[in-house]
Amino acid sequence: MEPLRRADRLRAGSAGRVTRRVLIVGASRGLGLGLVAQFLSRGWDVTATVRRPSLALDELAAGHSLRIEIGVDIDDDSAVADLRARLAEAPDFDIVFVVAGVATQAGTPAALLPRDVVGSVFQTNAVSPIRFAETFHRRVAPGGLIVLMTSKLGSVSLNRGGGWSSYRASKAALNTLARSFAGQHKGADWGVILMHPGWVRTDLGGRRATLDVETSARGMVNVLEGRLGQRGCAYLDYAGETVPW
Ligand SMILES: NC(=O)c1ccc[n+]([C@@H]2O[C@H](COP(=O)([O-])OP(=O)(O)OC[C@H]3O[C@@H](n4cnc5c(N)ncnc54)[C@H](OP(=O)(O)O)[C@@H]3O)[C@@H](O)[C@H]2O)c1
Repeated sequence: MEPLRRADRLRAGSAGRVTRRVLIVGASRGLGLGLVAQFLSRGWDVTATVRRPSLALDELAAGHSLRIEIGVDIDDDSAVADLRARLAEAPDFDIVFVVAGVATQAGTPAALLPRDVVGSVFQTNAVSPIRFAETFHRRVAPGGLIVLMTSKLGSVSLNRGGGWSSYRASKAALNTLARSFAGQHKGADWGVILMHPGWVRTDLGGRRATLDVETSARGMVNVLEGRLGQRGCAYLDYAGETVPW
């Protein structure tokens, strides 16, 4: 990724402190919720979206700069357009992070699943995040980042054992769409990050996963804070390692 000329263009608040702003999409539970907690703990101003009210997210709001937007289903273009309108007066974001994703019937090979199940996994994991990025890229501050939650399972070159085939393919599609999106916006003064969070104990990751949410979220935010001011498109994990395409 190539450094921006104005690498440090983060805004200074009235008390002279840097105030950074993040939009987290899909924050009701799991990694989205963990990312909200992590950004808040570092003093970021956080806007978090959910489909339905989340008590766990509400609890994070006490004493923090957290704005919660309800009714945001990324598969619903009118809900995303509504969100853009509701946030029209808000300052631009240093990071727009689309976290939402699904692993519906991931244990069944894609060729054996009903077409509508495979289609809906692709919509949510690949098509909707890119449509969200297209709708919101003008709201990314110079030097900022559009971050899309992918998975190492989306790596084509690392796929030796198969398994989770519809999920894998949807994340591989997301990776390809994101590279195309970055190419379409070559001159933009923000970067695109495809983020692999590690294998994390959430509803999606399951109980046998190796990482807890806090460790993954802390790692991802470390990586992202270090990437502000860089552009291009990178495929990284929560420890900052590049994942092979
Ligand atoms: N956990 C892992 O090991 C792992 C590894 C690699 C990648 N990931 C990726 O990390 C992301 C988060 O996963 P997670 O482990 O935190 O899973 P999770 O606990 O199952 O949470 C999924 C989140 O996505 C939201 N969501 C699903 N479909 C949505 C839609 N159409 N519109 C808006 N929000 C939607 C859910 O909202 P509701 O509460 O409304 O359902 C929930 O907040 C996913 O993209 C996943 O593929 C996870």
